[in-house]
Amino acid sequence: MSALPISQTVEKTDANANLSALLESLVCPSCNKPAAKLSIAKYRLTCELCKTKFPVFENGQDSVPWLYADPDQSLIEWKARLNGFLHLNHLEQRRLSDALKDKHTSKTGHERINRTLQAKIENKAQILELISPLKLESKSFEFAVDAMSAFYSKTPKVQGLSSYYNNIFRDWCWDNSENEQLLEAVESTLLDHQHLGRMLTIGAGAGRLSYDMHRKYVPDMSILLDINPLLLFASSSAIQGKKFSLYEFPIAPLNKDSFAVLQNCQAPNPTHENIIHMFADGLNAPFKAQSFNTVLTPWLIDIIPQNLCDFIPRINQLLKIGGQWINTGSLVFFHKDPAWCYSEEEVLELLEKYGFESIASNRKTIQYLNSPISAHGRTEELFSFCVKKVKDVASPPKYDYLPAWIHDVTQPIPGYHEHNIESSKHLLQAQVIGAIDGNRSIEQIGLLIAKQYSLQVDEAIHAVRRIAIDLHESTAKQ
Ligand SMILES: C[S@@+](CC[C@H](N)C(=O)[O-])C[C@H]1O[C@@H](n2cnc3c(N)ncnc32)[C@H](O)[C@@H]1O
Repeated sequence: MSALPISQTVEKTDANANLSALLESLVCPSCNKPAAKLSIAKYRLTCELCKTKFPVFENGQDSVPWLYADPDQSLIEWKARLNGFLHLNHLEQRRLSDALKDKHTSKTGHERINRTLQAKIENKAQILELISPLKLESKSFEFAVDAMSAFYSKTPKVQGLSSYYNNIFRDWCWDNSENEQLLEAVESTLLDHQHLGRMLTIGAGAGRLSYDMHRKYVPDMSILLDINPLLLFASSSAIQGKKFSLYEFPIAPLNKDSFAVLQNCQAPNPTHENIIHMFADGLNAPFKAQSFNTVLTPWLIDIIPQNLCDFIPRINQLLKIGGQWINTGSLVFFHKDPAWCYSEEEVLELLEKYGFESIASNRKTIQYLNSPISAHGRTEELFSFCVKKVKDVASPPKYDYLPAWIHDVTQPIPGYHEHNIESSKHLLQAQVIGAIDGNRSIEQIGLLIAKQYSLQVDEAIHAVRRIAIDLHESTAKQ
């Protein structure tokens, strides 16, 4: 794989003091050997053992390391996700441009659509600007925009570039009440207010809770770790005092003026002291055992693709004995396996099983993403806990998102019943779509399919109709 990203890192001669202070605690995410030292040279981190180079991206005062097992590959993945965002933005712009030609649109409607279109154009530039330290964008995006859709779908859709986009407004723009409610909920479980020591936030997102905790309790150091460049650069920019503007597109606009609203984001009291932003996989956080006094996981444990009973030992490993794990958020597990979708009681049982002493847990009602320009918002019964690590447990194996047969392309792909269903579904879809020629009707295609699959004609027409509805829904205007 070409070393696209490494050459794009910013060269700096003086090592960032915050980052240097952390070096001793880092484990190379590539070779994963605790004895392998990472060194800073010309503003990249290099593993002295396996020689992997990890870029460090400069965002104003911040130096943000990119600590993935395969740094180039993960940059390419995020480039693909950026492609996904650009592709969607392009489609939205096209739809809005077409809508301007709709003869039924009133003057008011025309103004609304035109304003949203201009906002989408500017939003593309705003997002590219925020993530510009990564230098992911290139000229080729301008003319390859339609071809991109074929590529971006290869990466997991659940963690796209604009996932949790509205968190940026909640954190740095709307009135502060939701952030205050979250902070209060966390505080009400805190074991030790005075000694947060070295604090790691996994899945820090746009950063507000970590920032509030940092300002109020002054830990020795706060590390904000996330995978999403848009959120983490928004956090880094806001916290160090950069103001930035972003368009908000609420789900349920309150009136014609709130379809696209330019919002100004900034931290109330910027700081830079003892805060590090870091890109890394929180499921394999690249730190030596017992590196932290506090681990904070806001709105994270139910959205990760890992069984919680494997994630808890990982947090245990990161903490010193006596250290505290503070968690807050929901328990809405989306796993396919019901055994992994734990209840509140089971979560507390698991904590005890994996070396924690339960200190405090509670449910508190909070407002969640109630934008002032949207008619839509939620109330959540937030689940928070603070637990103390009382003993070490066996370290979990490195978490791998992909099975061995995908890494090793010579291994057989296991056959699952679901694959057969998927393959016949896709085959039928491909045949139906292939038979659409602008002349044939659902009935005519149904007759072709019935003959090919020896189906009852009614049954085949029903199947073709279902595929046609899906097609219509994914391409129609409304
Ligand atoms: C529901 S959001 C919560 C964000 C933030 N904690 C908040 O409360 O606003 C989940 C966050 O976890 C991050 N995330 C998801 N998987 C992750 C992983 N494997 N490692 C680190 N962060 C991850 C996402 O990028 C996102 O910022």
